[in-house]
Amino acid sequence: MLRAQSLSKVYRSGEIDVHALREVDLELRPAELVVLLGPSGSGKSTLLNILGGLDTASSGRAWFRDHELTHADDAALTRYRREHVGFVFQFYNLIPSLTALENVQLVTEIARNPMPPEDALRMVGLGERLNHFPAQLSGGEQQRVAIARAIAKRPDLLLCDEPTGALDSQTGILVLEAIERIHAELGTSTVLITHNAVIADMADRVLVMGDGRITHERRNATRRPAKELTW
Ligand SMILES: Nc1ncnc2c1ncn2[C@@H]1O[C@H](COP(=O)(O)OP(=O)(O)OP(=O)(O)O)[C@@H](O)[C@H]1O
Ligand SMILES: [Mg+2]
Repeated sequence: MLRAQSLSKVYRSGEIDVHALREVDLELRPAELVVLLGPSGSGKSTLLNILGGLDTASSGRAWFRDHELTHADDAALTRYRREHVGFVFQFYNLIPSLTALENVQLVTEIARNPMPPEDALRMVGLGERLNHFPAQLSGGEQQRVAIARAIAKRPDLLLCDEPTGALDSQTGILVLEAIERIHAELGTSTVLITHNAVIADMADRVLVMGDGRITHERRNATRRPAKELTW
């Protein structure tokens, strides 16, 4: 589904070079759920952003299926993001003046083969909150609207950067359950960044990053259901 070969990213700020990624190799298989762990500054978001077409690498190559991302121009990357990738970030980025349903509709109106926005919201357990505005929803509910918005276009890839980072553990687990359900029902290949090692138990595979590299990789024999996680 996704492949990266010797991917590096250097940020230049003034005289200083920051090596955010150092020759990272990676493969993501269809319908795989991968958790990316690692300390702050280890390069997790940089890697996810390059794989999602939000940022470009300094060197190395990356492919989505047969399409090379590392040689794609801005228009091609925009198309890639729009047609194939759903993003979820720590802060929900919902439009406050639009209801939950309207926030999701913003995406389904321009997608090629979307699901009905109501169905996306039902999948994340918000079928009863369609006409609520973000300010009328809890943090966990807002994050689930953001997940519904990300998956309503039926993306091939769901990329989540600390989706539970702003939530307490109980609410975080509801959000993880929503991600898990989408992964199970739609077979969406999913990458989930977290600081929380407990969350790694819900993955097929865990990649640990340190100083711009994948330092450790582990395959879980079985995935642990999100509702059994506690922290
Ligand atoms: N736009 C940028 N300009 C300069 N340096 C950057 C930029 N973005 C990231 N970096 C640097 O690259 C390194 C990796 O950053 P990245 O955001 O990928 O880390 P992270 O693992 O996601 O950390 P966190 O867990 O805190 O989100 C850090 O040292 C960071 O300071
Ligand atoms: Mg980050």
